[in-house]
Amino acid sequence: EKGGYEHFMLKEIYEQPKAVRDTLNPRLKDKEINIEELGMSDEDICKIKKILIIACGSAYHAGITGKYVLEGLARIPVEVDLASEFRYRNPIYEPDSLAIIISQSGETADSLAALREAKNHGVRVLGIVNVVGSSIAREADNVMYTWAGPEISVATTKAYSAQLAALYLLTLKFAKVRGVITQDRYLSLQSDLIQLPEQIENLLGMKEKIQRFANRYLAADHMFFIGRGIDYAISLEGSLKLKEISYIHSEAYAAGELKHGTISLIEDNTLVVALATQEQLYPKTISNIVEVKTRGAFVLAVTNFGHKEIEKNADYVIYIPKTDNFFTNSLAIVPLQLFAYYISLGRGLDVDKPRNLAKSVTVE
Ligand code: BG6
Repeated sequence: EKGGYEHFMLKEIYEQPKAVRDTLNPRLKDKEINIEELGMSDEDICKIKKILIIACGSAYHAGITGKYVLEGLARIPVEVDLASEFRYRNPIYEPDSLAIIISQSGETADSLAALREAKNHGVRVLGIVNVVGSSIAREADNVMYTWAGPEISVATTKAYSAQLAALYLLTLKFAKVRGVITQDRYLSLQSDLIQLPEQIENLLGMKEKIQRFANRYLAADHMFFIGRGIDYAISLEGSLKLKEISYIHSEAYAAGELKHGTISLIEDNTLVVALATQEQLYPKTISNIVEVKTRGAFVLAVTNFGHKEIEKNADYVIYIPKTDNFFTNSLAIVPLQLFAYYISLGRGLDVDKPRNLAKSVTVE
């Protein structure tokens, strides 16, 4: 049941600290990362030449974050595919590849078919799955469960956050075993990981502030989400959350790409949500904020605590607590989920069961 919450989605947003903690904690012990269920020896991990991440919907977005994190920290080349594309694109299989299928339900038809396709070509398959004993969990060579618990709302929140946590653990494990990060970095990343659940908890306290802001945009026709690097990955998920439950059209754009197309759609008062959590990219993202403001946009920025400078350019700012650059998506997603939720609520829509969408899609 909804446990006093008006909707499952809000309840599940609030369950995120627990979902992330339950996914992280059993695998973090004595300053080491133990993922026994991986079933891979250190030698196996060192041999990986390429990772194929395959998923649908939000799980695909988690996979895009995974690409940035795995490539950035573990230095393993990663390709991310939509399952429905992967299965028919006749991909080039190389020896020593690892396929990772990400799925909340473990029953998504395209993801399951992609799993079988990879397996048939001799590729080892790891499932990152939430539902214990589901088809993908059963058919994968190994399963790393996300411990988010049952998710009811069609729009995923806590399962997505748990998927990110699982990908971070996997990355740290791979980076350590392959000897591509120093011990100091390994430990500092672990300590940042451990803080995520409490930081997510603190962010939930902004709910009223976000509701007030969302109420100003209930009649919007369209919105944009922009960001660079890992902030682009979270823009995709923020934009999907919004459009799936509010029916407001929205686009996520790599901030640097906006001027090559969609900037023509920016008009007076178009809301642009700008993600700016990557310090090394601040100046670049700010210049994109200036570009859209010049065309009349209203800019809501999501940035790191302490980055006061941004107030000179953005119209409204949401600050997230400090974490490692590679983990910011776990925090930045919270205000974006709340924003989508309150827009949908304010528009009087069926938040948990948006039209035309199903929680689990078992047909092609
Ligand atoms: C979609 C759901 O149809 O399937 C999305 O509406 C979900 O919320 C996607 O992200 C993938 O589902 P799963 O269960 O494979 O993660």
